[in-house]
Amino acid sequence: MNKSIQQIISILFIGAILIGCQNNKKEEANNTVDYITETSGDVDFGKTDVSAYTPEIRKNMEKLYEDKFGMFIHWGPYAQLEGMWNGEKKSAEWIMKVGQIPVKDYEREAAAKFKPVNFNASEWIDIAENAGMRFMVLTAKHHDGFAMYKSQHPYNLVEFADFGRDIYKELAEKCAERDMNLGFYYSQSQDWHEKGGVGNDWDFEGVLKPQKDFDDYFYNKVTPQVKELTENYGDIFMVWFDTPIQMDDEKCQLMMDIVKENQPGALVNSRLGNGFGHFDVSIDNGKTPSVSTATWLPDLKVPWQTHESVTQGGWGYTSYGGDLDRTKDYPDFIYSFCRIVGNGGVYLLNVAPRPDGTIPQSQANSLRAIGEWLEVNGEAIYGADPSPLKFPPYAITSKPGKVYLHLKEITNNKVDLTGLLSKVNKAYVLADTSKQALSFKQDNDELSVTVPTPLIQPKVTVIALEIDDEKAKVIDETLQQEENGMIKLPVSKCEFAIRRISYDYDTELTHRWGENVKQGLIWTINVKQPGAFKVISEDTGDHDFTYNLITSKETLELNAKGTIGKLTKKEQEGIVILSKGIHQIRVYPKVTTSKKTKHSYKFKGLELIPVNK
Ligand code: GLC
Repeated sequence: MNKSIQQIISILFIGAILIGCQNNKKEEANNTVDYITETSGDVDFGKTDVSAYTPEIRKNMEKLYEDKFGMFIHWGPYAQLEGMWNGEKKSAEWIMKVGQIPVKDYEREAAAKFKPVNFNASEWIDIAENAGMRFMVLTAKHHDGFAMYKSQHPYNLVEFADFGRDIYKELAEKCAERDMNLGFYYSQSQDWHEKGGVGNDWDFEGVLKPQKDFDDYFYNKVTPQVKELTENYGDIFMVWFDTPIQMDDEKCQLMMDIVKENQPGALVNSRLGNGFGHFDVSIDNGKTPSVSTATWLPDLKVPWQTHESVTQGGWGYTSYGGDLDRTKDYPDFIYSFCRIVGNGGVYLLNVAPRPDGTIPQSQANSLRAIGEWLEVNGEAIYGADPSPLKFPPYAITSKPGKVYLHLKEITNNKVDLTGLLSKVNKAYVLADTSKQALSFKQDNDELSVTVPTPLIQPKVTVIALEIDDEKAKVIDETLQQEENGMIKLPVSKCEFAIRRISYDYDTELTHRWGENVKQGLIWTINVKQPGAFKVISEDTGDHDFTYNLITSKETLELNAKGTIGKLTKKEQEGIVILSKGIHQIRVYPKVTTSKKTKHSYKFKGLELIPVNK
């Protein structure tokens, strides 16, 4: 377990406890699929009123939905340290915290030496454009508290090291010239440079700060800085807040107001905190087993977003994770992107520039590989709607009259799909410019397309289906009770109540489930043979972790009770009674997973077995 992640988790955990205490009442009342997201504690999504989706916001939201793909850039004085402190590998952008580097030392060794003389905004934009990315989000201030632009606060790139250039201004100007949308990341709570900022307990007392100190920091640093960033750099497409801790409604609203006043179209992410924001940001590298369009408004497609990094070992540059050749991972990035879009999301892919301001060639190569793929397959991504099937067997996207099947591997030259009811008129490989018709068989909801070997693409092959209907018709995907009365509830067939859970498609397990009591997993099941059922759970936990199984009538407490780290099936105490008809069955963590269990807890699902009368 990487230390930086441990640190993040410990901070989030404290935040979660503090905020969680105030919200137990709300948990109990939580009986719908409420689609909220969290980065720590009570970070719901959806508090922002529909009226916040002004015409300017709608325009940019439509743009985000169309564009799907942005470049995230984690860059700051931490890059200067390249992940090393006192000769030891520590962390990327979390190095100050992980290395417990005193402010004075960080200032001297990182910030004061940080002079990125080779920064060239055009080169960055070239790399983003070549990758098929349509917007960029730069860390304007990360948790180390250093402003990457000319701020009134003296701890900034232009003045502190006497660098003299405002790289954010240079980037903003070039982006405007080249029609590239620009956003900024801003760490509003964690600031390890300031006494009142959350996180630094080695120079100042406590990870969380006395209210007075936090307020002082917030109103005297955060507020003016967010004003500067939204006033001085032209059009801002997106404001990406992060790790909301000690944020109350008043502060969140203030941020929304400042952004709105200065940048009426800027899209604010949900990591501002407490349910505020215009779009829902998932867990880092977050994947979901099902399509989720629950954040859509009736007349506006509001996607969720997740992000990952082309580097390893963190988001910022390190000498050991920043220059890796990840050629063999390219298809994974592409496929990840296809899955995200297919499930209703948009994707931010992170690069980590070197301390001199250049983006390493290895990272640019990874991105270019995606760009090459998008040049031929972009039709299936840009502006695409999610899969018409809620639980697609592989990544599927759609557009009016079309369905796109994204295949990482094709075995026996066949691609099968179960569940599509619309009549297919033509199938072809999207990368094939001649659109040579592929032979296929369609029998009710069973489709089988033959793909000749020369047409199979080296990365992800996209098969385009032209269908009879504007909007694809699909089968009813409600889970069905088995003939023998058994009810299977695998995670692969559930919907997530919030985005802050992640799913592994290969092992069909969740991870980071149990860190928050709002992490509901929801199944919809058709019960034909009612009665009493005993419950078998399958997970990798131990006694420390309990969760509730909730039906419309009752709540049954379940206990992971296995050997930590080992996937086991075990019978739970108690039974559930289910009547005939359609049921929503939900599980919610009852307590947060213990520190010991936390990283090894993975959940595969439940089986309900009829109890013989
Ligand atoms: C986490 C980390 C941070 C990173 C972010 C990206 O919140 O604290 O270092 O910027 O994830 O999503």
